[in-house]
Amino acid sequence: ESTLRLHLTTSVGVVHSGEIPAAKPASEMLRLADQALYAAKHDGRNCVRVWSDRLTVAGAGPTVAAVATQAQRGRILVLDDDPAIGKTVEALLAQAGYEVLPETSPSAALARIRERPGRFDIVITDLSMPEVSGFHVLDELRTVDDLAMRIVLTGFATKENAVASLRHGAFDFVEKPISPDQLLAVVEKALEHRRLRIENERYRHHLEEMVRQKSAELLNALERGREAHNFTLRALVALLDAREHATGEHSTRVMELTLILGRTLQLPPRELEILGQGALLHDIGKIALPDAILLKPGPLDEAEWRLMRTHPEVGYKILRSNPDLQEVAEIVYAHQERFDGSGYPRGLRGTDICLGARIFAVVDTYDAMRTDRVYRRAVNADTALAEVRRGAGSHFDPAIVEAFVRCQPEMEKVGAWPTPAA
Ligand SMILES: [Fe+2]
Repeated sequence: ESTLRLHLTTSVGVVHSGEIPAAKPASEMLRLADQALYAAKHDGRNCVRVWSDRLTVAGAGPTVAAVATQAQRGRILVLDDDPAIGKTVEALLAQAGYEVLPETSPSAALARIRERPGRFDIVITDLSMPEVSGFHVLDELRTVDDLAMRIVLTGFATKENAVASLRHGAFDFVEKPISPDQLLAVVEKALEHRRLRIENERYRHHLEEMVRQKSAELLNALERGREAHNFTLRALVALLDAREHATGEHSTRVMELTLILGRTLQLPPRELEILGQGALLHDIGKIALPDAILLKPGPLDEAEWRLMRTHPEVGYKILRSNPDLQEVAEIVYAHQERFDGSGYPRGLRGTDICLGARIFAVVDTYDAMRTDRVYRRAVNADTALAEVRRGAGSHFDPAIVEAFVRCQPEMEKVGAWPTPAA
């Protein structure tokens, strides 16, 4: 096996077109690629070599400047108006395996970062530069690429400068003349900090996603609860309608008609919801009445009437046990009251009768007149409307009658009562 071992070496020279100005001709690119290939061959196997013609370190040979024996450790932009400082920092960091880009102009540096935020792990900046101050660069970076760790490099390492740098978002501070150990320590610390920040960010994102998901589930559950609640109310009403009315849709129709009047009176959404439920459930107390009274074709006798008149209170007692139905229960309790105090069960008058009940009373009476009952025939729309008008101030709240007159044509459309035989 050892005698048959095949030895194979692959060397590749690559030039990144971003590394040289676009105006450079193809021959120049070929020359650079050739140099890169030569350097790769020269340096031997199992290596990744990062090479740039702009990187030159004294004694490191003509072309190979940055040699990384492991994958890139981090990308760093160095901004200093003094090119010599940029080169020094670059050389020190490149030797430690970092990819470094020196810049002498703040605007060019910011443009590079803006081009592709996240490209640089670290930005090292000088403080005093002719174009703008390093503080300005720090401020800009905060909005352009907040995840890039900022390190300040300055010859004026005063306490004031240090505090101001931190205030402008710098992570740490390196003094000139540069001590290689200090520089590397600060860079490593910054990279570790960045790695933790990114990890935290990911974790936060994950948590937010989980919270979003749970909230959606909770909302769904609430919605299902609401639907179940509405279903129960409607089932209850359907039960009553099935007993009392041949069509079984009386309560739902009266609810829709009551909402038309409620909207005409410009009730807010929450009050409309309560009004609708009150209208739907108004006669729920009749569930307790025996068939002999509920379905009696003729007029009720005195004892039967006494019992019939208990239905608003029975309904009220059924509903008020639910804290969500308190206001609905009030409407049910007062739906047989009259504006002049001649109604039942409490003989309330005027605005002592809750608004929902006053609205409902007009619609319920109109609907009753427009529908055939066992003991009397339906009347036509004009007669029913005239009857409602006559009741203003006695049976009904005059202000509500006024609104009713306005929406009566719409009510007729939705009610779709059959035209009574002449
Ligand atoms: Fe009733």
